[in-house]
Amino acid sequence: MWNERFSEPEFTYGKEPNDFLRAEYQRIPARGRVLCLAEGQGRNAVFLAQQGYQVTALDQSSVGLKRAAELATERGVTIETLQADLSEHDLGSGWDGIICIFGHTPPAVRARVHAQIADALMPGGAYILECYTPKQHSMPGRGGPPPELKDFLVSLSDLEREISGLDFTIGREVEREVNEGSHHQGLSSTVQLVATKV
Ligand SMILES: C[S@@+](CC[C@H](N)C(=O)[O-])C[C@H]1O[C@@H](n2cnc3c(N)ncnc32)[C@H](O)[C@@H]1O
Repeated sequence: MWNERFSEPEFTYGKEPNDFLRAEYQRIPARGRVLCLAEGQGRNAVFLAQQGYQVTALDQSSVGLKRAAELATERGVTIETLQADLSEHDLGSGWDGIICIFGHTPPAVRARVHAQIADALMPGGAYILECYTPKQHSMPGRGGPPPELKDFLVSLSDLEREISGLDFTIGREVEREVNEGSHHQGLSSTVQLVATKV
């Protein structure tokens, strides 16, 4: 499904980074190593590389990662791409930042990933996430998993239950206008997180 979507000529979510990431990326120590989870076509990874970070973009989609590498070349930066399935991939350690922007997965996969975040981050490192909440299906905006995959949506209480060993510097559910390519548009309900390892 994702390879098909990412084969469309237009970048599915545009080439510009997510707004929340753009506002909060400096929580990640400067010039650090950043792992971008479920990074798709690389708009956020390329943005972080442009800010001086050493970036690895992870996704299951080979087509998405190919587009990510092309975008990096277009913007004159280098990123590493890693094709991996989060249901079985181990995050490793030594990351100064980990991000997950609209990386919706089954709850068991999400919980498995979140159980690894604290050990994967360096002290002072940050985990930055924005995802659609369960309220999204009653919002006018377009974006997020379809109704039959409603358990892929993420609430703040899910994050509080799944993530331990980090300080929630920002943890909130918001309604905001999203404008990211053709597939994320309009007034939407999202959960936003900056969680820091002290
Ligand atoms: C809505 S897109 C978001 C892409 C990107 N983070 C962005 O904001 O532009 C969701 C992404 O999650 C990826 N994904 C879903 N399940 C995954 C899994 N189990 N392992 C790795 N990537 C996964 C898809 O391939 C897709 O690129």
